[in-house]
Amino acid sequence: MSTRIRHATVMLPEGPADVDVLVADGRIAAIDPAASSTADHEVDARGMTLMPGVIDDQVHFRDPGMPWKEDLHTGSRAAAAGGVTTFLEMPNTNPTTTSQARLEEKLALGRAKSVVNYGFYIGATPENIEELRHAHRTPGIKIFIGSSTGDLLVDEQAALERIFAEATLPITAHCEDEATIRRNRERIGESDDVRDHSRLRDVEAAVVATRRAVALAEAHTHPFHVLHVSTAAELEILRAAPPWVTSEVCLHHLFFHVGDYARLGTRIQMNPSVKERSDNEALWGALLDGTIDLVATDHAPHTLEEKARPWPASPSGLPAVENSLALMLHEVNRGRFSLAQVVTWMCERPAQVWGIRNKGYIREGFDADLVLVDLGRERTIRDEEQVTKTKWSPWHGETLRGWPVRTWVMGREVWRDGVFDPSVRGEETLFTPRRRGDLSSPFA
Ligand code: DOR
Repeated sequence: MSTRIRHATVMLPEGPADVDVLVADGRIAAIDPAASSTADHEVDARGMTLMPGVIDDQVHFRDPGMPWKEDLHTGSRAAAAGGVTTFLEMPNTNPTTTSQARLEEKLALGRAKSVVNYGFYIGATPENIEELRHAHRTPGIKIFIGSSTGDLLVDEQAALERIFAEATLPITAHCEDEATIRRNRERIGESDDVRDHSRLRDVEAAVVATRRAVALAEAHTHPFHVLHVSTAAELEILRAAPPWVTSEVCLHHLFFHVGDYARLGTRIQMNPSVKERSDNEALWGALLDGTIDLVATDHAPHTLEEKARPWPASPSGLPAVENSLALMLHEVNRGRFSLAQVVTWMCERPAQVWGIRNKGYIREGFDADLVLVDLGRERTIRDEEQVTKTKWSPWHGETLRGWPVRTWVMGREVWRDGVFDPSVRGEETLFTPRRRGDLSSPFA
């Protein structure tokens, strides 16, 4: 099956170009194909922009184990509707993904249920070093250096040293320091004020854990990715870090701050917590100056019923995978940065950091994971229209300009303007991971 996408502005690695793109057998067969080459389908994309599908390297889709929140089908549909064609999912499911056998069970679930391409991290425990050493078919190892949703936690120095010294796959970590959180909890005492979430998981908790993890990565020359940077203070650590250390920021840490608890309450209760408005600004600056490498969502669905429990009984996490690209396109329209930068942060860099094969770029021979965006379209985010099973968004009521309108996964159109092709399934994502001892930057 072949498709010719005509008249779009195409986000090529060397810059935007007005060319046609020919897709055949799941791949980008030709860019600017000869006028004589024909296709089974033609898409007239006049006035639209074609970009590589977004790669979100941090989502939680709750499968197996928590189907009332999300599963690999509903989560991946939300991804497709947001222009996300590949996701890397976290191991804090039930059971946890902490062995090769569990990883392969999850890959089988992905194959059966996911409408976009999938990949799954293997989770670290204090005891599973042998599994981590031999893991494959995964982008890398996830460590919760601070506890979050679920019970995955490795915070003893000896266990952490062992993982960084003996495993070879790239490591990524949730960096919030348990001891600091514990001390803060004692200081705060009894409280049902959600604003205390950001006092409990404060700047120090983030900084102490990020500093510790980056030091381990440095000592063991271990490719390491800092998840969801949330504070201005962590940026100093990242600026001094070696080239094999990379980092990301999530949409909620760019857009929300402690002042928003009054309006949004537990909807913006996340780990790491949201911080001050000055942190938002510093994080935007760090993305623009290259200190932070990429943008992800940490899509972490919980039901509104669960969120309605008074803090601290309410769970941490918010859904975001279907709104991330639109949020960034809106900022492009506001003149904050270019669409090419969005492609760098949301498509190219995640592919580079995780050694994802044949994705992230519109290039001949690469997988035809594509999203067509209408930079002029306006739409208001509404809880009830969300595709995620949880049916809510922390951005409910916000009108954004610039939306994805069509999404292709491996050459097949999975979603068009709210309508899914139920026959489309994604594929297992393939990796050529960086390894311990690799001193280069993934962007070199
Ligand atoms: O707030 C969070 N929720 N942060 C995480 O790291 C995990 C996530 C979840 O799985 O709910």
